[in-house]
Formats: sequence, C-alpha cells, structure tokens
Amino acid sequence: MTPLNDSSSDTLILAPEEISERENESDCSAAAKSNYGFQTQSIHAGITPDPYSRAIVTPIHQSTTFVFKGMGEPGEFEYSRCGNPTRQALEDNLAALEGGVYCSALATGQAAELTLMNRFEKGDHIICGNDVYGGTIRLFNHLQKHAGLQVSYIPLTNIDRIAAEIRPNTKAIWIETPSNPLFNIVDLEAVIAVARAHDLVSMVDNTVLTPFNQQPIKFGADYVVHSATKYLSGHNDGLGGAIVCREESQIEDLAFTANALGAVLGAFDSWLILRGIKTLALRMREHQRSALEIAKFLEDHPAVSRVYFPGLPSHPQFDLIQKQTKGYGGMMSFELKGGIEKARTVCEGTELFFLSESFGGVESLIQHPKSMSHSSMTPEAQAEAGITNSLVRISVGLEDTEDLLTDLDRVLG
Ligand SMILES: Cc1ncc(COP(=O)(O)O)c(C=O)c1O
Repeated sequence: MTPLNDSSSDTLILAPEEISERENESDCSAAAKSNYGFQTQSIHAGITPDPYSRAIVTPIHQSTTFVFKGMGEPGEFEYSRCGNPTRQALEDNLAALEGGVYCSALATGQAAELTLMNRFEKGDHIICGNDVYGGTIRLFNHLQKHAGLQVSYIPLTNIDRIAAEIRPNTKAIWIETPSNPLFNIVDLEAVIAVARAHDLVSMVDNTVLTPFNQQPIKFGADYVVHSATKYLSGHNDGLGGAIVCREESQIEDLAFTANALGAVLGAFDSWLILRGIKTLALRMREHQRSALEIAKFLEDHPAVSRVYFPGLPSHPQFDLIQKQTKGYGGMMSFELKGGIEKARTVCEGTELFFLSESFGGVESLIQHPKSMSHSSMTPEAQAEAGITNSLVRISVGLEDTEDLLTDLDRVLG
C-alpha cells in the first residue's frame, strides 16, 4: 500500500501539504468567483479541480470516513455526517448563488426545515404564511404538538396583520414567495423590515423561484431554505434540501445543528444537484418562457376561469413581482369551470404532463393540490388559502411548448 505521505512515488495520492498547495494554486472558491455573473458562478463557485486527479468534475466522495494525518490530527474531513467534499462543493456553490456566507445541504427540503426550526425552543412563537407548501404546515403543526412551538398562519400579504400578530414570545417569520399553489407574492422588503424592527428571524423558502430569479438575502433575509429536489436538481432524480445563512455569526450554530441532527445530504445526491445547478440559468429561462406562453393560452381558454401565474400582467401583484424578482418560474395553477370532475378529467387525461407531485424538473407535471400536495391541510385551512376542488397545478417542463399546448388543449375540451 502506498503511504499517504510518499510524495516521491508516482502515485496520484498527494500528501496533505501538497493538496493544500494545489488548492491555493487554483483558488476557485465561492469568494473568488463572486464578481462573476450568475451563470458563471453556477458553474464555478465553490468548485475546485480535484487535487488528486485534476478532474474538472467534482468526484462523488462516497466514503463515510477519512484518514487522519495522525492521532488526534484530522485532515479537512473526518466523517461524512460532519462534512464531505462533494457535499461541501454543493454547499459552497449554493451559498455563493444565494449571496450568503454558508450553506448546509440536507437530505430533503423537509430535513432543511426541521434542522432550521430546531433553533427555536418550547414556547417560542413563529408567524408563517397561511398558503405555504402543505408539508411545511404539516411539519410546523407537528412541532406545535410535540415540541411546544406556537405557530400562527396568516396571509403575509397583509403587513398590518403581521404587526398585529407579533407577541412578546414571537421569534421568527417563515416566508414562502411566491406561495404555492396560488402564487401570492410576499413583499420581501416590507415583511423583513417588520421582522427586523421586532428582532425576529426571517426565513425564506426560495424553492419556487430559485436564486436565478430572487435572492432573499439581498432583501435582508436571515436564512434561505430550499427543497433542492425541485429546480436546483432539475431532473426529477435527486432529493435534497439546503439552508443558506447571511452572516458569519450564524455558521457555527447551523453547522452544529446539521451535524447533531444528522439529516445531511449524501455524496451522490450532492453530486446530482451540483450537476443540475450548472444548467439552472438555462433551464429557468426556458421553463419560464414556455410557462408564460402556456399561462396566456390558459387565460384565454373557455374551460378555465382563472390562472395564477406571476408572469401574467393580470396577476394582482404584477408591479411587486417586477420589482422583486427577475423572472416567474415555470409553475402555475388554474381554476377550471366544472368542479372536481373536470379537474379529474384534466389531471388524468394529459399525455405529456405526468400526474405527479413535485415540480421543477425537465418532465412536465400536473397535479390536484387539494387531494395531493396540500392534502395535509385541514379543509378549513385549504378554503382560507383558496385551494378548491377545481384547482389544478402544473409544472412546465422542457418539452416543446407546442406539444404541451396541444396536450392541454385536447384535455380541456
Ligand atoms: C416550496 C417547498 N418547500 C419545501 C418542500 C419540501 O421539500 P422536499 O420534498 O425536498 O422535502 C417542498 C416540496 O414540495 C416545496 O414545494
């Protein structure tokens, strides 16, 4: 066996000092790339050629543990729950794209939410949008029951209502914008100003728009959360989640919690998501171009009574959208004339739109929020959030727009 410190041999295994020398030679760190455009950063930020082989692509470090230099002398990595080189490349990349200082990549979006919520204690009160992802509401309800958190679900479009809801024990605001499935927009600047004025932590779920379109940290958000399963991964093949924080002072606590709870992202899924992110900008441009065409078609269709899509000028918050985001994403919902039976015909009748949960991948998906993604909400909460029997949500993939329009036109009748 070649000794690790045998740098005179022909082996590709380098001594630790040589590795760090090589890393310094080609400093491709997030900081080094921060003055580049989004697309350049998505390909380069946080990614260094592999110090052993000089491979351009970050290897999948499918190893649970790493060899110590000596007794009590770990190298940069010790054990993959605490840190893994493939996961770290993804974390550095995503921190740069969100304009944050640090990222922790977790097993799923839900794992990211749970890890972040762990910073709160029994009796703490959290304000949450009333139309956020149903799984977020399910998790928060669970934490109310089992961890003693108090949660108020209110429309975050109403700033006066937020201020009125703040109690002495209120600690944080959970924002999702656009909300899902109705695509209401939360005014990030205004809501985060309220949070700061009351010393509340602001946490923004940026899954739907991604940092390509919206960077909540620029608006003052303390944390950004992702289901990386969606657009970041982009190919319906990798589950993942992430938390990005804005300040150095948050890093230690976040790294500690991620390691202590242990719901971290595996090396292979980290690699898949990292690969997905390299084409995020290209995919987002095409998702939203095609989605806008489809939204306009649906708006004019006699079987549809209303379309919820942030890119349509008819969206009641279109001005705010223009101010706050660069683009609209590739998802929309629409209300059908004809109730649940029509919704069933449409959801079960499409050929290219698969009847599935999730969104943000290359394959187009269709689903019925009331009985699928948001079924964990009570009927009252669904009604308050506007999730009806005849509401259908689609995620526009990367198929030819013409083919998607033909598919929808056929099934709408
Ligand atoms: C907006 C949003 N946040 C978080 C999640 C949870 O992510 P995951 O399914 O990766 O756990 C989802 C899942 O659909 C989501 O849509």
